[in-house]
Amino acid sequence: MTALRIALANQKGGTGKTTLAVNLAAGLLRRGPTVLLDADPQGSAGHWARVGGAKGDLAPVQGVGGHEAGAGIAQASARHRYVLVDCPPHLESGVLREVMDAVDVVLIPVQPSPPDLWASVDMVAAVADARRANAGLRAYVVLNQLDRRNALSRSMHQALAEFSVPVLASGLARRAAYRSAALEGGSVYALGKRGISAVQDVESIIKEVLKT
Ligand SMILES: Nc1ncnc2c1ncn2[C@@H]1O[C@H](COP(=O)(O)OP(=O)(O)OP(=O)(O)O)[C@@H](O)[C@H]1O
Ligand SMILES: [Mg+2]
Repeated sequence: MTALRIALANQKGGTGKTTLAVNLAAGLLRRGPTVLLDADPQGSAGHWARVGGAKGDLAPVQGVGGHEAGAGIAQASARHRYVLVDCPPHLESGVLREVMDAVDVVLIPVQPSPPDLWASVDMVAAVADARRANAGLRAYVVLNQLDRRNALSRSMHQALAEFSVPVLASGLARRAAYRSAALEGGSVYALGKRGISAVQDVESIIKEVLKT
C-alpha cells in the first residue's frame, strides 16, 4: 500500500491544525485505511478521539513523540492509505523538521488576516529547508475561519501573493459545527444535518489535495 502522508503544521498556535487534521482524517477514513499521528505533546487530537470513545467516527489516533515522528510515519505508511500528522505549534523541538522530511504534503492553516499570515512566515523557510532533503514536498496554505459574508480583503490577497506558498482554493468557513464536533468527540461527518456545510468544506479540501 502506498500511503499519502499529509502534515498539518504552523508554528503559530490556534490556527486550526488539530481541527483540520481530525476532520480530514475522518473524511479520508471513508476512502481507505487512515491513521492520525499526533506529534503534538499537548495531545489534543488524542483527547478529542477519547471523548468520542469507541462509538466515534474518527480515524484512530496514535501519539508519536519527538524523534520517533519519522519512524512512526514510516511504520504507519506501510499499513494505511492515508497518514495524517498533527504538529505542535512551535518550530524549535525538531519535531516539525522530522515530520516534514517524512511527508508528501504539508498543509499550513492560517486565519485570513495579514497579521496572522505574517506570524506564519517562518513556515515558508521551514518548507524551503525541508525541500533540501525532501525535494517532492508539496506545501499549501489552507485558509481557516473564513467569514462567509466577506470576500478576502485586498491586503490579504497582497499578503498571500508575497507568501510564496500556494493557497488551496478551498478553505474552512468559521462555523459552530467545528467546535460542536470537538465537544462531542466526533468529526463534522457525525453531526448529520448540523454538519452538512462543514462536511462540504472538508470534502472540497480533500478533493483538491487528492487531485493536485
Ligand atoms: N473553522 C472554524 N470554525 C470555528 N471554530 C474553529 C474553526 N477552526 C478552528 N476552530 C476553533 O479554534 C480553536 C483552535 O483550533 P485548533 O485547536 O484546531 O488549532 P491548532 O492550530 O491545533 O492549535 P494549537 O496550535 O494549540 O495546536 C479551537 O477551539 C477550534 O474549535
Ligand atoms: Mg493543535
